[in-house]
Amino acid sequence: MPKILITEPIPDEVIAYLESFASVTIGKKGTYQSEEALVRDIPDYDGLLSMLSNPVSDTVLKAGKNLKVVANFAVGYDNIDVETAHKLEIKVANTPDVLTEACGDYAMGLLLALSRKFKEAEQYLRDGKFTGWEPLGFLGMELRDRTIGIIGMGRIGQAFANRARAFGMNIIYHNRAKLAEEIEKELEAEFISDHKELAKRSDVLSLNCPLTNETHHLVNQELLELMPEHALLINISRGAVIDEAALAQALHSEKIAGAALDVFEKEPEVHPDLLSAPNTILLPHIASATHRTREAIGMLAAKAILSVLEGKPDHEIPNLISR
Ligand code: DGY
Repeated sequence: MPKILITEPIPDEVIAYLESFASVTIGKKGTYQSEEALVRDIPDYDGLLSMLSNPVSDTVLKAGKNLKVVANFAVGYDNIDVETAHKLEIKVANTPDVLTEACGDYAMGLLLALSRKFKEAEQYLRDGKFTGWEPLGFLGMELRDRTIGIIGMGRIGQAFANRARAFGMNIIYHNRAKLAEEIEKELEAEFISDHKELAKRSDVLSLNCPLTNETHHLVNQELLELMPEHALLINISRGAVIDEAALAQALHSEKIAGAALDVFEKEPEVHPDLLSAPNTILLPHIASATHRTREAIGMLAAKAILSVLEGKPDHEIPNLISR
């Protein structure tokens, strides 16, 4: 029987499915956030079901003497050295599509909470400061007719755009490639080729792009200075798309009006100046966290592992990351 390592507990249904064709080991929460632990244990396994918090580096992959497949429990796979995996003939798969709607809902939730100051207003009430209805209390930004600029108009960016449009927002976007005309029409979305121009025009700036060399610290001091003072920033992509020190500085000095962040550059660490920043919502990377979605993510990853272990050809392996 092949041996599979799942680095963290995942939904039971997925574990039962994997156990139907393999011997499965499940890591304790947090064990494999370090390269050392993976390097130590990986030689035993044919398949790895990794989390985005696991550094599946060059060293880890080289230590995986029996490793044939790594399936990431996520759509993003910047934690995996895909180039090395390909060199070593180890297949890599991710889990797109199944989390699109959960992430679209979540981004919209963040925007509503941020624009209407839910977090600060709730804290005010809990602190016993609510002494009666206030005509000037917690005035926020109404979304109708405001412009949302989306950086990264893949599946999740489009899901967010759809929801924002239902709230009467204008959609502008920046993406590696311009979308097909019929999709632009459906979303009533305007392509902006220069991301700085997009930042200038956005009342809300949303990051929905993968983390790559090009997007690393894309939101830096220069870009933040171009944003309008009333602008809000939302990030459910990857933390390192933002220079967190520059963002914290912009929030403290009120260069922008607020931020909702689901992801951080050095998770689980959060930049200390973000913790004290005004009008800032900080959440522990939970955009895809619904029962339905997490089960679907697990099943997709498990099916990719099974396909590889059965020796299926590449075109029959779900969501294989190609060379
Ligand atoms: C992913 O799957 O890459 C996301 O970070 C989920 O929130």
